[in-house]
Amino acid sequence: MKRVITYGTYDLLHYGHINLLQRARALGDYLIVVLSTDEFNWNMKHKKCYFSYEKRRQMLEALRCVDLVIPEETWEQKIEDVKLYKADVFVMGDDWEGKFDFLKDYCEVVYLPRTPEISTTQIKTELGK
Ligand code: CTP
Repeated sequence: MKRVITYGTYDLLHYGHINLLQRARALGDYLIVVLSTDEFNWNMKHKKCYFSYEKRRQMLEALRCVDLVIPEETWEQKIEDVKLYKADVFVMGDDWEGKFDFLKDYCEVVYLPRTPEISTTQIKTELGK
């Protein structure tokens, strides 16, 4: 079985997220989403989520293309996650191009093209108008 792992916040789940997750899942047979906790988002990414971790997890778990959701609590956990969950492929959108190449010692690293013109930040901005 080929296992794929990806990371993100997935707040206000939108079609850009779904598009990324479906393409990530298609690279293997089992998709693990490592979902940023509310604390990690606030302390490390300086982002406040609209939906709580539990709500974001529930929505991701309801998707056919997602097999497992686990928490992201630190920047440093990626190597351990890849080893622990025996991931064959690490996937991120190409806004992260090159940033995780150090994982190439442990698995394949793939950056997928982002879906244009949609992001959580953009939705928040539009709704705030
Ligand atoms: N993503 C994508 N296409 C988009 C938006 C996001 O492929 N239009 C991907 C990102 O590259 C990442 C994953 O979806 O691999 C989760 O991204 P996340 O940062 O949670 O979503 P964004 O909408 O980019 O949120 P923000 O605006 O807060 O950065």
